[in-house]
Amino acid sequence: MKIAISGKGGVGKSTIAATLSVLYAKEGRKVIAIDADPDSNLADILGVSETPPPLSKLPLVRERAEIVNGIFRVNPKVDDIVERFGVSSRGVTLMVLGTIEKGGRGCFCPESAFLRAFLKHVLVKEDIVIMDMEAGIEHLGRATAKNVDVMLVVLEPSLKAVETAKRIKKLSGDLGLKSIFAVLNKSRGEEEKIKEILGDIPLIGSIPYDEKIIESDITGAPPFEISEDLVRSVKGIKERLDKLIHT
Ligand SMILES: Nc1ncnc2c1ncn2[C@@H]1O[C@H](COP(=O)(O)OP(=O)(O)O)[C@@H](O)[C@H]1O
Ligand SMILES: [Mg+2]
Repeated sequence: MKIAISGKGGVGKSTIAATLSVLYAKEGRKVIAIDADPDSNLADILGVSETPPPLSKLPLVRERAEIVNGIFRVNPKVDDIVERFGVSSRGVTLMVLGTIEKGGRGCFCPESAFLRAFLKHVLVKEDIVIMDMEAGIEHLGRATAKNVDVMLVVLEPSLKAVETAKRIKKLSGDLGLKSIFAVLNKSRGEEEKIKEILGDIPLIGSIPYDEKIIESDITGAPPFEISEDLVRSVKGIKERLDKLIHT
């Protein structure tokens, strides 16, 4: 199962990505969680002791992706990267992508070539991959998007979050990603209203607003260890996904 999680900033992508990762790991599955949001915080939420180095900043990226000035290898060596740079906690191996300069339309730089090759490799090779992304998913590229089974768009009860979800659906379609589902987070009972304005994006679950999750920001305890509502709701979402997506 390869799940990409996207949505407006602050809606709860990382909270949900971390909880899903831990739930799959508890089943004994090998889980790779990828922090692909430049505004990243997945390491804190997962409670890993040390944050892995952002791959885009590794000196080896340029060595492996670049042949000579301006010409890039299409298939740089990436098969040792998870083992060398991933940090594991609770059965989940975390990788941080880091940011790449977005020069104009698309990016032809060794970092971009390397990260795409890395993502493609991990998506093809590993059992469960959960990608915590930003709202802009263009940099995924078609070749990478092809290997993602589902795009989970997280929203909170706000028109802005719904607008962002619709934009992500359009981008996902352009990239050839077919299964797009929405999840409502921080809900206080707005499911029906949200379904109405979401249009053709199926809402497959909701997570209640829970003060305990905000407390976890201050105490540093992972939210899935203190919010039963979060764990129960994400379990429901996971079951829906396992039924909907056959891998
Ligand atoms: N169900 C919820 N109820 C209350 N607060 C939540 C809930 N889910 C997430 N939050 C809080 O919302 C903020 C953003 O969550 P986060 O997962 O970091 O979002 P994102 O990764 O989309 O930016 C955090 O302060 C988090 O504690
Ligand atoms: Mg986040």
